[in-house]
Amino acid sequence: MNAPHQPSPTLLDLAGRSVPRYTSYPTAPHFTSAVEGTVYGGWLDQVQDRGEPISLYLHVPFCRTICTYCGCSTKATLRDDPIRAYADTMRQEIRLLADRLGPVEVEHLHWGGGTPSILPPDCLEMLVRELSDRFRFRQDMKHAIELDPRHVTAEGARQMAGLGINRASLGVQTLDADVQEAIGRIQPLPVVAAAFQALRDAGITAINADLMYGLPLQTCQTIRETARQTLALEPTRLAIFGYAHVPWMKSHQKLIDPTALPGIAERIRQATAARKSLLEGGFVEIGIDHFARPEDGLAVAFRSRTLRRNFQGYTVDGAETLIGIGASSISRTPFGYAQNAADVHGWRRAIKAGQFATRQGKAFEGEDRMRAAVISDLLCFFEFDLVEVSERHGFPAQSLAADVGRLAPLVQAGWVEIDGSRIAIRSQRHEVARIVASEFDSYLGHGGRHSSAV
Ligand SMILES: C[S@@+](CC[C@H](N)C(=O)[O-])C[C@H]1O[C@@H](n2cnc3c(N)ncnc32)[C@H](O)[C@@H]1O
Ligand code: SF4
Repeated sequence: MNAPHQPSPTLLDLAGRSVPRYTSYPTAPHFTSAVEGTVYGGWLDQVQDRGEPISLYLHVPFCRTICTYCGCSTKATLRDDPIRAYADTMRQEIRLLADRLGPVEVEHLHWGGGTPSILPPDCLEMLVRELSDRFRFRQDMKHAIELDPRHVTAEGARQMAGLGINRASLGVQTLDADVQEAIGRIQPLPVVAAAFQALRDAGITAINADLMYGLPLQTCQTIRETARQTLALEPTRLAIFGYAHVPWMKSHQKLIDPTALPGIAERIRQATAARKSLLEGGFVEIGIDHFARPEDGLAVAFRSRTLRRNFQGYTVDGAETLIGIGASSISRTPFGYAQNAADVHGWRRAIKAGQFATRQGKAFEGEDRMRAAVISDLLCFFEFDLVEVSERHGFPAQSLAADVGRLAPLVQAGWVEIDGSRIAIRSQRHEVARIVASEFDSYLGHGGRHSSAV
């Protein structure tokens, strides 16, 4: 417990803390080489035995140029040859996986990156055909792709729709010309509007837009203006990501002038301004950084408590198994996480040799699943029931007593409420949610460096 004379933490204290985003638990810095191809293969055998539907994530780590703020796993190429070679290896990886899993049903298929639409049209078609030949696509399969608005064409949109793609995520980030200049990504409003139009004309009407705050030169005013212009384009979902400045991991971010970056207090103001604009625009808040129209599936899942958190953020995907395909992709199975080699050459070498390219991961052990459920509930619903979660995982509620005890300063500050066995974050603020979740992370403090909570 806090000594009585100790001041309660302020939002500013909390927001500056370095904590994970919890798109997995345990988080990636705690993956080890103990999980390699044979361990992963054994997990896939058990997935096949369970006979449940799976989801697929295909990672395409290429872009035409690198935006200086980018935190994704990608690299620049102006030539198509490396992309074609990559697609060819992806096809072999799909075959390896399908040989192990059998013709299992697919619930969700997600293309991420990088910029997956950089795949030449014949490669994209070849890969979708390969997947649909080897697996069983559910009739109502959600088929999503991440797109860079600067590279969306009417023809490309028609091709994607023809292949069954029914949701697109566009990286809008900011529509302010000075901020675009500062992040090396020039995409004026008409370019973004044309991308929306091309997708709609092709029949892809479920369109997400990613926005960002905390970028160099950004202000509350430019954020409100970007939000207003983006809302006018009528996306169905919006994400607002705080710029994660991690130059020790992403060396191109060193090109960003650190003196042009907003400080923590300004980041809080920007996040608040963005959130207010979207709520006033008729969107509802989903978890820590997503917003959706009230009738959208994410909002429905939030209300019916079926919302889930995964590597793509928030999802309605109910599959227990998410198989990652491509360099650096992460798979989640009911037994643990497995990550492919991050370097394309290492990944290709393994696949060409007929082996899984798993380089690291984490088998669930001890209290991992229970803690993952607590963290997921906190980030999806801002509350959890201590007795319900611990009983469901076969542990006494006492096993989380020390973690709950650490919440005392947050309770004292009025951020967290403990009512019987129900623990709730009073203000549904993302900065607080990540901090509260981190108190249940038994690995934190044992390695890994993260971005700030806001
Ligand atoms: C793979 S990218 C999106 C697709 C496409 N490559 C594009 O940029 O439009 C995924 C999203 O991650 C977010 N993002 C990228 N770098 C980030 C960073 N350093 N901090 C926070 N969010 C970031 C951006 O909002 C981006 O739209
Ligand atoms: S933000 Fe998107 S387009 Fe820019 S480098 Fe990252 S993945 Fe590529």
